Amino acid sequence: MAIFLLFAILLSTSNCVSFASSVSDEEVSRSRQACKLAREYLAGTTVNSSSLEGYVDPRSSLYSDRVEAYWSSNCWQNASCIVSPASTEELAEMMSIIASTNATFSVRGGGHNFNRNFSSVGPNGIILDMTRFTNISLAADKRLVTVGVGNRWGTVYNYLDGTGVSVNGGRSPNPSVGGQTLGGGIGWLTNLVGVTAASVVAAEVVLADSSVIQADEEHNRELLWALKGGGPNYGIVTSFTYKTIPIDKVWFATRWYSAEQNRALLHALFDYEMTSTRDSKANIVYQLSEETGAPQSFVGFLYLDPVEWPSIFSPFYNITHAATMINSTTGTLSDLASNYYAPQYPEPGIPPSRDYVVSLPHKLDEATYNDSYATFTKYAKQAADLGWHMNYGSQPISKLAVHESSNTPLNLTNVEQDWVHVTLQWELAEDDSTAIKMLQELGKEILAAATRHGSHLRYRFANDAYSEQDALSSYGEGNLRKLISISRKYDPAGVFQRQQNGGWLIDRAQRN
Ligand SMILES: Cc1cc2nc3c(=O)[nH]c(=O)nc-3n(C[C@H](O)[C@H](O)[C@H](O)COP(=O)(O)OP(=O)(O)OC[C@H]3O[C@@H](n4cnc5c(N)ncnc54)[C@H](O)[C@@H]3O)c2cc1C
Ligand SMILES: *[C@@H]1O[C@H](CO)[C@@H](O)[C@H](O)[C@H]1NC(C)=O
Ligand SMILES: *[C@@H]1O[C@H](CO)[C@@H](O)[C@H](O)[C@H]1NC(C)=O
Ligand SMILES: *[C@@H]1O[C@H](CO)[C@@H](O)[C@H](O)[C@H]1NC(C)=O
Ligand SMILES: *[C@@H]1O[C@H](CO)[C@@H](O)[C@H](O)[C@H]1NC(C)=O
Ligand SMILES: *[C@@H]1O[C@H](CO)[C@@H](O)[C@H](O)[C@H]1NC(C)=O
Ligand SMILES: *[C@@H]1O[C@H](CO)[C@@H](O)[C@H](O)[C@H]1NC(C)=O
Ligand SMILES: *[C@@H]1O[C@H](CO)[C@@H](O)[C@H](O)[C@H]1NC(C)=O
Ligand SMILES: *[C@@H]1O[C@H](CO)[C@@H](O)[C@H](O)[C@H]1NC(C)=O
Ligand SMILES: *[C@@H]1O[C@H](CO)[C@@H](O)[C@H](O)[C@H]1NC(C)=O
Repeated sequence: MAIFLLFAILLSTSNCVSFASSVSDEEVSRSRQACKLAREYLAGTTVNSSSLEGYVDPRSSLYSDRVEAYWSSNCWQNASCIVSPASTEELAEMMSIIASTNATFSVRGGGHNFNRNFSSVGPNGIILDMTRFTNISLAADKRLVTVGVGNRWGTVYNYLDGTGVSVNGGRSPNPSVGGQTLGGGIGWLTNLVGVTAASVVAAEVVLADSSVIQADEEHNRELLWALKGGGPNYGIVTSFTYKTIPIDKVWFATRWYSAEQNRALLHALFDYEMTSTRDSKANIVYQLSEETGAPQSFVGFLYLDPVEWPSIFSPFYNITHAATMINSTTGTLSDLASNYYAPQYPEPGIPPSRDYVVSLPHKLDEATYNDSYATFTKYAKQAADLGWHMNYGSQPISKLAVHESSNTPLNLTNVEQDWVHVTLQWELAEDDSTAIKMLQELGKEILAAATRHGSHLRYRFANDAYSEQDALSSYGEGNLRKLISISRKYDPAGVFQRQQNGGWLIDRAQRN
């Protein structure tokens, strides 16, 4: 989420991805055929058939907006058409068209995954865009909330505001419910109730054969388990039902620091982590930047009770901050989300950037932090020299969070840990391979340090990992085997493996 704020101060220029590849005429004609059938079907079912709201192709005025609806411009790719079904029935029909034409496709939720091809497809494929699945309903007893996958988390927090309950969704208001949950997910309440997916109790899914099924504790129980972090291998989810958490007023504040304080912030992080785990109401967002202009390191403090400046965060309080990002506030999680809110990217006035992230979970160990930070500063300098932006982010995960996530396939190790991630932003397509290589090398050095210090963890966080990090394999051999057999059961023809353009696909897992 904080990354959004940074966009406002980043300078970059518009760019576009040139997409050169040799494709068979056959592939072109398969996707054209799929788009033609989709358009005919939608024209026949839309009340105002001349509007065809849910269908765009290169002839439509909305086409380029839809092509560019991603967080990272690295993902901008033309498509034969982009279809946004308005109901489960329409989606099922699209699935049937895709399966029968053998067209290449991608499913797009909020478009926030930075891996090219996860939710974009290229000029010879079709995008199924889920953004019209926006229903939300809170059960009368307020214990469960059913959320359409196309909602952004900010909308969900707003909907629940004032009800006395909330849900452990994403921290940023902008990623979609569907994509964020299918990767496991870190939320504001993770140290209380585990990953986002751990709160899921039911899902509605459209399978490759276009049947619509319900997965819950009584029906398709193993499918429900697979959806709690196991990626897009089984079907397209239309809604998730989550357990709510009674929560009303919380306290939060966020401070900017100059880069000179980074060492002190790193030390404070470690001190905080060594004690915070006894208090599952404490949560931080944390970013270090080496940039020397406007201060860009920050720490956000969140306490899940209306307690101002609780002592749990005291390791940070004596570090001189340069500015306030969010003043000390007692409010709801919706207030918190809207404080961090920047309208859906891309938006006017915020230039696009290309982004890449590496997931580096490790156990809490000061020597690992020190070495990681040294590696980070080395690469951050190289990045800064090129006019790029690199950030180091901490995401503390407590043993309690691990325990609460045991109903998912993630197979987290039962220790206090930090799902560190480093993000790189640059501007030009021609720099893609250099930038990506730089971040991958940084990642390998940090993981080597963790191995040296005995703090290495096998897990890779699917929502932060680049595709070669192979998140599904990191869940363990046994769990990967289970995910494979569940995928084979629900998609026996392998439509999601063969025709889907990208994502955490079991057929692409290394199984090591
Ligand atoms: C600014 C920012 C802040 C973030 N903050 C957090 C955070 O606090 N916590 C966290 O956990 N993650 C966070 N993330 C990571 C984010 O959750 C992942 O990038 C996630 O993949 C985004 O989901 P999406 O639907 O928006 O993206 P998309 O790119 O649209 O989708 C991601 C993947 O999910 C698949 N998919 C999406 N919807 C469906 C569906 N309904 N059925 C089947 N497959 C589907 C897509 O095909 C694709 O493979 C953040 C990312 C950004 C850019
Ligand atoms: C149908 O949609 C078109 C385009 O959006 C619009 O111009 C027209 O007025 C609509 N017609 C009706 C009957 O709503
Ligand atoms: C999409 O295609 C158009 C026309 O061929 C081209 O001008 C544009 O650059 C392409 N966009 C992307 C993102 O590749
Ligand atoms: C949203 O809910 C309404 C009313 O229950 C229903 O008719 C509609 O089909 C739902 N839409 C989606 C996309 O699920
Ligand atoms: C579907 O398309 C793939 C190429 O993407 C091709 O290898 C395969 O043979 C096709 N299958 C059928 C049944 O046409
Ligand atoms: C993305 O998908 C296209 C089309 O299927 C393919 O040619 C390309 O190699 C893929 N790129 C990556 C980075 O996976
Ligand atoms: C912060 O500073 C105050 C006053 O200088 C001091 O009493 C306190 O011990 C310091 N706290 C920490 C955690 O260093
Ligand atoms: C914080 O509060 C002060 C005093 O009310 C105000 O001047 C300042 O603008 C606020 N800062 C932010 C970032 O909201
Ligand atoms: C980590 O670095 C700090 C200096 O910033 C130092 O005080 C501390 O001893 C180092 N710890 C380890 C375990 O290397
Ligand atoms: C879980 O991970 C451990 C290693 O950390 C591994 O030994 C075990 O096989 C994994 N379990 C499953 C079910 O994959």
